[in-house]
Amino acid sequence: MRHAAVRCQAAQLSHARATRPPSLLRSYARALSSVSSVSTTTPRFAWVLPQHHTVACRSLATSRPASTIARSDIIRDNPKNNVTDTIFSKLGTNLHQRPEHPLGIIKSAIFEYFEQSDPGKFKLFEDLYPVVTTAQNFDELLIPSDHVSRSDNDTYYVDENTVLRCHTSAHQAELLREKHENFLVIGDVYRRDTIDATHYPVFHQMEGVKIFDEGEQDVEAVREDLKRTLEGLAKHLFGDVECRWVDAYFPFTDPSIELEIFFNGEWLEVLGCGVMQQKILDSNFGEGRKAWAFGLGIERLAMILFDIPDIRLFWSEDERFLKQFKAGDLSSKFKSFSKFPPCNKDVSFWISDQFTENNLCETIRGIAGDIVEEVKLIDEFTNPKKGKTSHCYRIVYRSMERSLTDEEINDVQDRVRSVIVDDLGVELR
Ligand code: DAH
Repeated sequence: MRHAAVRCQAAQLSHARATRPPSLLRSYARALSSVSSVSTTTPRFAWVLPQHHTVACRSLATSRPASTIARSDIIRDNPKNNVTDTIFSKLGTNLHQRPEHPLGIIKSAIFEYFEQSDPGKFKLFEDLYPVVTTAQNFDELLIPSDHVSRSDNDTYYVDENTVLRCHTSAHQAELLREKHENFLVIGDVYRRDTIDATHYPVFHQMEGVKIFDEGEQDVEAVREDLKRTLEGLAKHLFGDVECRWVDAYFPFTDPSIELEIFFNGEWLEVLGCGVMQQKILDSNFGEGRKAWAFGLGIERLAMILFDIPDIRLFWSEDERFLKQFKAGDLSSKFKSFSKFPPCNKDVSFWISDQFTENNLCETIRGIAGDIVEEVKLIDEFTNPKKGKTSHCYRIVYRSMERSLTDEEINDVQDRVRSVIVDDLGVELR
């Protein structure tokens, strides 16, 4: 099941799988069937409306460089811990800090835009520690205590009170408490999810916050400034594109809106933003000010801008990928170095009560690594007599870099079949 969190209720029904419960169907935003329609900040994280708010303002672990992360800090013998070695291996990689990497190129272009528009005003944080408290990741952003994004099916927990940040918004409150008024945060974020060409459990986001001077109290003026700023950013990145705004919902902004651009003949959602909830600003920075905030997914922008068809490519060390991009150059278009054939393998099983698609995908990724391109449910039925439900998944294997052999795939598939029985408690059919 997709990370069901962020955003509101635009029409994603076309893509939602028939198996999703209706309440979730409603909250999925926009079709995600192709690169050009991958969601703003990543996976199908659609914020649902809150039932109630919990605010916990307590002191937080101070940030430290992500490069000092030890395995024992992250993978612990705690019942809540669900971080795998595959995920641990990504921590501290900091792809966004490589100037020649597409993610580094987008980061620099965004920072350059803010520098050009308002020299010296925005401070860039690019090495904040990705392990945060649940207070930082959720409570201080007014994310309801029963919100689905808090579940360990969607979020990587280190222990009950510590997670791998699932968005860069997790740093908003601490930076406000440190009295930063205008800042940008870029970093790697982590979400448990299912697998396809536009979804990967680690991706990168940029967060932006601007606080207005004491005299500037007009919410409409704040919103207009936000729109002008972000339309300017879209044009800086994409050229003279047409922009439009749609209403959205985020727990941490009010009003909340999303920016879409018309690019290559389609309207694409590029970021979420809004006027910061007054409570967040008052309790962390001090009363009497207004602010805006935005968040965007860097992979998504890079996939659109550079025509990158598969999100796994960002993690490739293959020169044929990396050599196609140059620091400071937004005009490169990715050319596939070769199209390797996919290899499909189906697996059918009776699910157990605890079965989730995210767990299945995590297990498959753990065995197959980046050669798994997609995992899709192709059949489902319930046997009323037995009271059991069967799922059939198609696993698409394809490397971005080489041809896979039958032998290799058969071996991976055999291991997948046996590990899902052992670890997920399913019964093969
Ligand atoms: N944190 C949101 C997400 O991960 C993105 C976002 C939306 C950030 C609106 C913001 C904002 O600061 O104002 O999907």
